[in-house]
Amino acid sequence: MKIKKLCMIPGPTPVTRSIQDQMGRETVAFGDPGFINDFKEVVKDLKEIFKTEGEAFVIAGTGTLAMEMGIANVTKEGDNVLVVSNGFFGDRYKELCERRGLNVDVLSAEWGKTVTAEEIDNKLKEKVYKAITVTHVDTSTGVCAPIAEIGEVVKKYEDTILIVDGVCATAAEPEYLDEMGIDVLITGSQKALGVAPGLAIVLAGPKALERRKSLGTIRDYYVDFEKWIPIMNDPSKYFATPPVNLIWALKETLRIIKEEGVENRYERHRQVAKAVQAALEELGFTLLAEKEHRAVTLSNAIYMDGINDAEFRKVLAEEGAVVAGGLGAYAGKMFRLGHMGNIDYHFLVSTMSAIERTLYRLGKTDALGKGVATLQKFLME
Ligand SMILES: Cc1ncc(COP(=O)(O)O)c(C=O)c1O
Repeated sequence: MKIKKLCMIPGPTPVTRSIQDQMGRETVAFGDPGFINDFKEVVKDLKEIFKTEGEAFVIAGTGTLAMEMGIANVTKEGDNVLVVSNGFFGDRYKELCERRGLNVDVLSAEWGKTVTAEEIDNKLKEKVYKAITVTHVDTSTGVCAPIAEIGEVVKKYEDTILIVDGVCATAAEPEYLDEMGIDVLITGSQKALGVAPGLAIVLAGPKALERRKSLGTIRDYYVDFEKWIPIMNDPSKYFATPPVNLIWALKETLRIIKEEGVENRYERHRQVAKAVQAALEELGFTLLAEKEHRAVTLSNAIYMDGINDAEFRKVLAEEGAVVAGGLGAYAGKMFRLGHMGNIDYHFLVSTMSAIERTLYRLGKTDALGKGVATLQKFLME
């Protein structure tokens, strides 16, 4: 019998039927009055959910394009920028900033730990940084940065724009722009928002928009806020073709989020993460992220002795769950399990049972049910 393979990597995450239906609709002209209204609603909802008086941008692209958009609109060549790196995606922001001719300083943490708000405060005292980038959840390590505390610190520095990479956090961790001091939030559609890959989403608060204005003409074209603001305010205008079906899909996930309630959604992710992480530990895995900074969106589980990564993930896929491998120094030593977005208990129980069957087939456990029992106990708390 062919077994259904659940996509449990840290993005793309499983896309629910009602969202798939939006992607399967017959595409209409981007000037279609119904679509224009739908697009307007998406932009309005994003600003309301993530609480900003600024602007929301939804364009075709991925999280990496959103990273470019974030930095391109608030800095010019030669500016000092501080990159906070808790892993692979923080390092990506460093490279991206360096290629733009920015003068980059980096504060990095050992993998599994996070740079603290205090360290950032001390660094910001040293010179004027025009922007600071922080990865909210680094998908390579499963570490969550203390964004609320960092926001409080950066608020003190008038000239510094806080850019938060929310690609692996948005819609699972609180990110309220104006009250938390986040000036630019960059994200993608395929993780905790639960849509298929293909959208770069950026929210910019008032301070970031002022900065953009002060820069005059920038060399970037496609990601220029000034090109997109007229479109986001009135989608009947044209700048570049909007990804019609993905915008419908985003509209549907925003409807799901509002129906669930954002705070409930954040709490659900916290509870699920606690349950999954306890179950993985019960089965003998070690989690890379230190306990107090563990992400709610994914778990990065280091193998016990004697497990071959390729074999583990192959057998696990045969048992019905696809997970991702480790990155950097953890390639071959760890797997990464996503548990975010619009997933329910069925996905979690099925995945944990597939992990148990995999360990059983590899001769690493004879106690089937141990992980599932722990998972369910925590889910029922
Ligand atoms: C934290 C983080 N930032 C940025 C990215 C890049 O996003 P994309 O792959 O959509 O370009 C990822 C992708 O996994 C990510 O996890």
